[in-house]
Formats: sequence, C-alpha cells, structure tokens
Amino acid sequence: MNKPVTGLENAKIISEDKAHVWHHLSQHKPLESSDPMVIVEGKGLRVTDINGRQYLDAVSGGVWTVNVGYGRESIADAVRDQLAKMCYFANSAGSIPGALFAEKLIDKMPGLSRVYYSNSGSEANEKGYKLVRQLAAMKNNGEKHKILYRDRDYHGTTITALSSTGQLQRKDQYGPFTPGFVEVPHCLAYHSPNGDDPDFGVKSAREIEKVILREGPDTVGSIVLEPITAGGGVIPPPEGYFDTVQEICKQYGVLLHIDEVVCGMGRTGKWFGYQHYGVRPDIVTMAKGVASGYAAISVTATTEDLFSEFLAEPSDKMHYFRDISTFGGCAGGPAAALENMRIIENENLLDNVVRMGDYLMDRLRELKDKHAMIGDVRGKGLFVGAELVKDRQTREPVDESVAASVAAHCLQQGVMIGRTNRSFVEYNNTLCLSPALICTKDDIDEIVAAIDNGLAAQAG
Ligand SMILES: Cc1ncc(COP(=O)(O)O)c(C=O)c1O
Repeated sequence: MNKPVTGLENAKIISEDKAHVWHHLSQHKPLESSDPMVIVEGKGLRVTDINGRQYLDAVSGGVWTVNVGYGRESIADAVRDQLAKMCYFANSAGSIPGALFAEKLIDKMPGLSRVYYSNSGSEANEKGYKLVRQLAAMKNNGEKHKILYRDRDYHGTTITALSSTGQLQRKDQYGPFTPGFVEVPHCLAYHSPNGDDPDFGVKSAREIEKVILREGPDTVGSIVLEPITAGGGVIPPPEGYFDTVQEICKQYGVLLHIDEVVCGMGRTGKWFGYQHYGVRPDIVTMAKGVASGYAAISVTATTEDLFSEFLAEPSDKMHYFRDISTFGGCAGGPAAALENMRIIENENLLDNVVRMGDYLMDRLRELKDKHAMIGDVRGKGLFVGAELVKDRQTREPVDESVAASVAAHCLQQGVMIGRTNRSFVEYNNTLCLSPALICTKDDIDEIVAAIDNGLAAQAG
C-alpha cells in the first residue's frame, strides 16, 4: 500500500483543494474555517484520509459504487493493459472489451440483447428517454412521448434526468424542466395510510394506471422505476407491485425502463434488483457498480424488439439511433467491467450478499428493539435503510439534523454511513448502508456498533 502523503505536501494539497475545487453536494462556507476530507487510499472496505486516519466505508465510496471493494489490483491491471494497447475509439466502431463485456452482461439478463455504452447513470437514463422519444416520433407522430417517473425515485443530475426525478429538494431551483415527464405516486408502505393493507402493492401499482388513463394511454411511451428506490429512502417494492406494473405496461403499450444504477451488479443479492420480482423490462440502465468506480462506464440495455425498431434501409436517413457519447468509447470502462464481473463470480459475492444482507438486517432489527427512534428497517441484500422517527405511533420523521448527527457520530468512531440528504423537505431521515459486497460479519458488527452509539448519543 502507498503511504499517505504527509507533512508539507498535505498542507499544500489541502490548500489547493480549498482554493480551487468545488466539491459535489457541498456548501463551502464551513470550509473557510475547516478542512475538506481528502481520501488518499483504500483497501477492501477501508479508506484512509490524508491525515492517516482510517475509516470503514459502509456506503461503498459514499454513493454505493465500489461493489468489489478498494485496492483491486487485477482491475487496475486490466485497465492499464487495455489503455496501453487501445485507449479509445468512438463507439461507432467496436472494441474487444466492449464486445466481450456485452456478451457476459447479456448472459445475466435473459430477455435483453443489446448494450449501449455511455459514461454515467444520468446519461444511461437519458439514452433510455431518447429511445422512447424517437420511437414515438418514428411510429406515431411523437404522440406516445410521455415518460412516467415515481415520487421519491432519482434518475440523475442533468436537467432531463432531474425532470424524471421525484425528489423535490433535488429539483428545487433547477427548473424549468423538460416537458413530457409525469409523476406517479411512490409505493412506501411505511408512510401510507393504507400501508398495512395486504393489497397495498397492487393498489400502489393501480395508481400508475390512473395516471396513464388521465394522461391518455396513447400519449405514454414508458415508465422509469428504480427496482428498489435508493436515495429516496431505500424502498423495496411491496408484494404484488411489480406483477401489476408489468401487467399495466403490457395492457397500455408502455415500455418498462428499470433504473439499476444503484441495484445493478449484485448489490441486492442477484445480478439485478428487478430479478427478485419477475420483471421483464424493455430497457435497463446501470452504472455505479458496473466497474465499481475503477473506470467510468454506464450501460443502457434493451430488448431485441426495441433494437429492431431502429433498423431500416440506409436510404431512410433519420431512422436509426442518432446518439453518441464520446466517453462511451473509452475502452478502459468495459475492460474494468469484465474484471469486476469476474471477481463477483469467482468470489461468489452474490451468495455473500445474501448471507451478509440477512445478518445486517437482523442486527439492525436488534437495534430497532433497543432504540425507539428507529421506526422502520428495510432493504434487500447489502442495501439497507433505517428510518428515524420522533414517534413510532405517528411515524413523524426526526429533523434532518438528527440523522446528520448520527452519521457524524459514526464518522467520529471511524465508520462512514450514508443518509437521505437534501432529497425531500421532511424526509431527510433515513440512514443508508451499502457496504462492499465482500463485507464480513465483523465489518457489520463494527458498523452496527457505531450506529448504536450514534443513536444513544441523541438520547443524551
Ligand atoms: C438510481 C439512480 N439513477 C441514476 C443516478 C445517476 O447516476 P450518475 O450520478 O452516474 O449520473 C443515480 C445516482 O446516484 C441513482 O442513484
């Protein structure tokens, strides 16, 4: 392992950072009198900051990305070898890792057959939206162009991806938005007056049908859904939800676009989150865990049926997907993704996710028995949230400062956890955990102990 940089050099890096770097999701005013965290190395689940302090990272790079853990030299080697041989060519041409990764990926996704490369989750979703818009234009004068999205889901940072996002605080001040995106209600049982109804899942899905009927089925081209809502509060779908969504999509000719940017590549114990629920999507997007952050890569995967709609005689000059992503041609992305997938398979990480996910859930339920502030624990595999409330009866959320304080206490103890942040006005109250797929019981015990102490500190 490299030694953390020290002494004078540290001071220089911090001062250059403070002088010039504009950090993501950050208010910089406090940094006038404090220093930013600078992460300099990582191994397994642990990262080290510039001052040599080590942390257990329970959120895989802060935003559920580093699925196979830090310090994987075999991925670094695969990327290095590929870059030295052939770094880049626009993806209008093929590449060796691009072809090989597409074949391996499609093997894991029965029903899908085509892989379109780009370089971020937002961009992968935009490709999905563009496919729907162009299909509408080619088939019925653009009429079936509307795209439904769900309250509490997030689909990315660009203006159009935000237009399809159901988190008001994320969107606030960034409008006006792209027209043609229509919201449907969320399916979080915990905050629904009908959440205890055994038919809640089916009824929530029927709310989508109402929106389709209100808008006019001839105007609705697709619906985009996270299989398990991530930043919106870790919300697994209730029983019966996806069966009904699928039925509704079929009935009204609405394409089903599943956003696997977070859940994809094993996070929930299957290759893809939708595979828990028998969903047959038309479009699947993925990014973060595809190469675990070792290289930037995202994918928009589609069915052969959808792909074939874009086949035509070359004389029909506009009838093909006229889209490009410059960095979708970086060959290091699929090279890293191939090795990332090999690791997940060779180390049986999906099995580990199921076992450790169950253990994490059990340990959090124990914490719930101990701390009245935990109102709900939910998730799938190594993707779990604990919602904090003032009162279990009313389920009134704690103020976001409480969730922030618990996370800060964890950090002081050397454990990084996540939380819903600046997503909703009221519901910035869910602690989020997504440790790397390699995590052990000891890691989980350490994470849970830190949260236990963090919650105890709120009572004091
Ligand atoms: C579900 C989901 N979709 C899309 C995105 C956007 O991905 P990116 O930040 O790579 O553009 C995110 C990012 O957090 C996400 O959580």
